[in-house]
Amino acid sequence: MIANKTANVVTEPLRMSDAAPVDRQALKKELDNAIPYISSRIDRTLYALGDKFPNEACEGGKWQPAENNQWTNSFWTGQLWLLWEITGDSKYRQAAERFITSFAHRLVNRIETDTHDLGFLYSLSCVNAWQLTGNAAARDIALHAAEIMMQRYNPTAGIIQAWGDLTDPEQQGRMIIDCNMNLPLLYWASEQTGNLVFADAALSHAMQAAKYIVRPDASTYHTYYMDVVTGEPRFGNTHQGHSDSSCWARGQAWGIYGFMLSYLYTGKSEFVSLTRSLSHYFINRLPEDAICHWDLALNNTDAVRDSSAAAIAACGLLELAKALPATDADRMQYEEVALRIVQSLTKRYLSTDESECEGLLMHSVYHMPAGKGVDECCSWGDYFYLEALIRVRQCWTSYW
Ligand code: GLY
Repeated sequence: MIANKTANVVTEPLRMSDAAPVDRQALKKELDNAIPYISSRIDRTLYALGDKFPNEACEGGKWQPAENNQWTNSFWTGQLWLLWEITGDSKYRQAAERFITSFAHRLVNRIETDTHDLGFLYSLSCVNAWQLTGNAAARDIALHAAEIMMQRYNPTAGIIQAWGDLTDPEQQGRMIIDCNMNLPLLYWASEQTGNLVFADAALSHAMQAAKYIVRPDASTYHTYYMDVVTGEPRFGNTHQGHSDSSCWARGQAWGIYGFMLSYLYTGKSEFVSLTRSLSHYFINRLPEDAICHWDLALNNTDAVRDSSAAAIAACGLLELAKALPATDADRMQYEEVALRIVQSLTKRYLSTDESECEGLLMHSVYHMPAGKGVDECCSWGDYFYLEALIRVRQCWTSYW
């Protein structure tokens, strides 16, 4: 169970930074100042792409138009909804609403739906549309997505298979740390319908991930195989990290934020302890500007950064800080690191030259071993930067 497991995970003492504390008022001002520029950048992408989506990651700093068949399409609608909340400009809401039928079409026609990423896809395109505007059709589409996602749950292994056909021997029983962020769709579906089957599967998966994907030193495997016949653990390995024994930075960030989200839905404090342990491992391996290298094992090298992982971790750290009592010794530190990340991203990573980079956040890494999206802008980096920005700037109700 998680309780035994978290007791076995080390929580490193936090290494204190020499950096001066972030001036919160000044940071809010910097973020306010960035908004007109961010809006104009998104306006141009919206105009250029029309009813298409930005590709997963830029190529040579340019967005290529994509169909609704990638794991990342909803990071675009998520940005539009966030920008509507930030600016109040109805054109962003209208643009986001236009995409809802595209997400319905994708489900009905089963276009690249053999993936746990239905969570990302429908939380940020339909759950948020329902939450923000009461769009009942969007709610139905998201519930349908949750039903399809449930088909990927293997009760023997207690996990949701990440990728591919359920009979594919290469993928059977494989869970990945990223899935923590897909679980909210299932928890939400239980809340909406009263049918606990979704939440039970999500909790089971989160517990298996806590038990097997998290290593005793609080680093994480990217992926882990379970035996679907016996339910026994098999082995962990990487897909996008530096090596099977290293710690892929974005995976750790998905873990930090995702375990916190499981806490928010289940109230199980073991997930807070786990988030804390993963966060200490992450924070202790940050370089001076607080933006992680693409793999945490490459700390203290000149390896490229993954700004998207930093943005994801900042959102998770802000949630962690919110969940802790004011008396908690490390709470202020979590918030401070999150703010340092947001400040650093805004000052040093936000693209200011469109001819160099058409996205918002430069210097992320999609898939280093495949040489894909290396040191580029990516759609989820832009989304999580905007999410972190809105979290720092105003009161915000989560889409997750
Ligand atoms: N979920 C896939 C990735 O983070 O690249």
